[in-house]
Amino acid sequence: MSPPASATRRFVILISGRGSNMRSLVEACAAEGWPAEIAAVIANKADAAGLAWAAERGIPTAVVPHKAYPTRDAFDVALAECIDTFAPDYVLLAGFMRVLTPAFVTRYTGRLVNIHPSLLPAFPGLHTHAQALAIGVQAHGCTVHFVTPVLDHGPIIAQGVVPVLVGDTADDLAERVLGVEHRVYPAVCRWLAEGRVQLADRLVHVEGDAPRLFFAESPHG
Ligand code: GAR
Repeated sequence: MSPPASATRRFVILISGRGSNMRSLVEACAAEGWPAEIAAVIANKADAAGLAWAAERGIPTAVVPHKAYPTRDAFDVALAECIDTFAPDYVLLAGFMRVLTPAFVTRYTGRLVNIHPSLLPAFPGLHTHAQALAIGVQAHGCTVHFVTPVLDHGPIIAQGVVPVLVGDTADDLAERVLGVEHRVYPAVCRWLAEGRVQLADRLVHVEGDAPRLFFAESPHG
């Protein structure tokens, strides 16, 4: 289901930890005046640092603690119930570190978006920066994509690329990738807010042909 053609889009953001991507979305939405509202920030951990930041700014927050549910299915049902109370047009995963069930993903087909710290389809899963260093790629980055039941595999909306530099540690690379994440995800969410993103046959089209590949601002970050 696509959101209505002209309306303020409602975004619900899911986080698990520090929430720097969430912050970049909240700040860009306010600074750039997107036709969108951050309807809620939801975490699966009560101590996710991003929750306090969002609450301080008057954004509704909620916690659905995954440890309180006996199965992945039960957690996903509770999570969906919580999300739906905020009536979102889009659900944005921003460092949400839970694998979601096919039933959950299907419920939000075309409305569930994720940021992953690699140039997909390379390096799905965890420890992407270490994986990149271990195989010697010279470029690394991030991908914003629609979520499908196959982990880290959905239609690509935009990507950000950074160089891998001699001597990089996984932490160095993570920091450089995060810099470009904070540019790619807000750009994509602005397009979503403006109703410019279409999905057809597993391929994404962005109205106006906005450039969908972003580059590190400097080789060092
Ligand atoms: C980000 O690098 C994000 O791409 C990654 O977790 C980090 C969260 O940071 N997401 C994943 O690995 C999802 N599989 P943040 O909490 O500061 O946004």
